[in-house]
Amino acid sequence: MIARKLEVKYLPFDRVTRVPPGTTLFSAAHWIGLPIDSTCGGRGTCGKCKVRVVEGRTDPETADHRLLRPAEIEDGWRLSCQARIYADMVCEVPQLLRVPKAATMGLGRLVILDPNVRKVFLELSEPTLVDQRSDVARLKDALTEEGHDMVAGIAVLRTLPQVFRDAGFRVTAVLAGEHLVAVEAGDTTGDCYGVAFDVGTTTLVGTLMNLRTGMAASVLSTLNGQAPFGADVISRISHGMNGPDSVRELQAAVVSTMNSIMSALYGETGVSPDRTYEAVVVGNATMLHLLFGIDPSPLAVMPFTPAFMEPLSVLASDVGLDIHPRGYIQTLPALGAYVGADIVAGVLATSVVREDKLRVFVDVGTNGEIVLGSAQRALATAAPAGPAFEGSQIRCGMRATDGAIEGVQLGDAVELQVIGGDVPAQGICGSGLVDAVAQLLLAGLLDHSGRMKTAEDVPGHPLRDRLIDVDGVRAFLLAEGVYLTQKDIRELQFAKGSIATGIQVLMDILGVQTKDLDEVLLGGSFGSYLNPESAKIIGLVPPVDVDRIIAVGNSAGEGAKIALLSYRERQVAFELPARIEYIELSGRTDFNDTFVSVLAFPHLELVGS
Ligand code: FES
Repeated sequence: MIARKLEVKYLPFDRVTRVPPGTTLFSAAHWIGLPIDSTCGGRGTCGKCKVRVVEGRTDPETADHRLLRPAEIEDGWRLSCQARIYADMVCEVPQLLRVPKAATMGLGRLVILDPNVRKVFLELSEPTLVDQRSDVARLKDALTEEGHDMVAGIAVLRTLPQVFRDAGFRVTAVLAGEHLVAVEAGDTTGDCYGVAFDVGTTTLVGTLMNLRTGMAASVLSTLNGQAPFGADVISRISHGMNGPDSVRELQAAVVSTMNSIMSALYGETGVSPDRTYEAVVVGNATMLHLLFGIDPSPLAVMPFTPAFMEPLSVLASDVGLDIHPRGYIQTLPALGAYVGADIVAGVLATSVVREDKLRVFVDVGTNGEIVLGSAQRALATAAPAGPAFEGSQIRCGMRATDGAIEGVQLGDAVELQVIGGDVPAQGICGSGLVDAVAQLLLAGLLDHSGRMKTAEDVPGHPLRDRLIDVDGVRAFLLAEGVYLTQKDIRELQFAKGSIATGIQVLMDILGVQTKDLDEVLLGGSFGSYLNPESAKIIGLVPPVDVDRIIAVGNSAGEGAKIALLSYRERQVAFELPARIEYIELSGRTDFNDTFVSVLAFPHLELVGS
């Protein structure tokens, strides 16, 4: 059960937000896009984030006593990153003294550049007989003066004596959070990179980001090297069940795919692994378990419990990722066994649940992940759609590669859009399938129940010759050797029915109807290629105006980039599990009834086509 939310008002903006108890004033402001000054990213060391509490109360913390004057504390001033909200509050935010650097990310959102990785150039005083502080103390003192805390492990300590003396005590400290990753000779602050990874079951996308400018240095994608062990998560989990060696095999496959991307990114940009200090990695729960070599098998059996859903921060060298060996891999949290960190990243990128608009975010795939809600209340679920959208279990189905039909238009003739341009059609991929079925419905060749007409049923129809019989099964001929059978239509009906059921169940729980929806966001690689009109015609998504159905592209990758560029946004992502209620569909009594009610295709007049 989600605890009652508390109301906070920020003056002089008059902006109000409602947050779960225990949220800091700093992150609550960030949720609604109010920039509060900070150079430490909310770690309680810079003292820049102070606000004055005018109503409600919050007790001063240690950091308040350290960084604020007693008279300020007395007057209600608090460090907003330390002040937790346990009652309704009103506070006053001082004007920003500097304009923060920002980058446009996600759905055109301005993200304040505030990476977890910071480089601080320091001109340290050289030791003398009257100043015999240790190297660590010298470094720590200088960092504290700049508003940074520091924790140094043994590996970096080993490098200090030489780097300090070789560089004449002019060094750059590299911090990931408060962890000292490296001390580099001279001023290297201009050279600071991180990588954002979306580890998909099929494809991996890596983006090398310049953490100083917020710009992508380069982006590359490639197929997941785990593919030989099966196309979907269930077959990967099954392989992992063969024992620890198999889990290690799957881990090695994904890490080596990531490293091949890293090496190509380095090659293309001239950036070195030693200057790449952090990787933010998102993916579904199975992919993240395998990345860390954790047995994912409990995910596949009731009651579907992952080993972890929390965000992990792991030394890159522990996993073998080719960035700075003392750099970190950071993951985002998951909402449930089948609503993973990739969806959390998508929610971060699209700002669903941070705005007042009521939106549904759907990532269509073998598993359909759905998040519905607004800043008021949000729900998430996973709907098992089966492999139809991937083109599997479809007679002429194939992946979205060269030769796949990805778009279909039916008029007096059949017009096809084939991936690769001028190549003959070899099969049909998911988006082509959705298009084809929508067009068959519009052309009157498929009825509302999903039954395909025969040539006899439609005398005089310009496409009646295309209605054929394949091994005793009705089919529609799309191109030579490529057809859609009645059975394929049923497969698609089950797949879209499952996702539509997920959406409907969430809408019912939230007590909203289609007319209340402001937008439908289609995420994931498949969502980007889906024709919104077709998705609506087949009833995959609720029948809102087609211009309110928006493909949001690789929202998971965008979210990972945002979390890499902004520590505050990362905190927002960390809070999402507390903000979004996870609804388990299996075992719900209303699932079957809803499923049956949405299985048929909508009547065309209902979808406005
Ligand atoms: S002390 Fe730096 S953000 Fe609060």
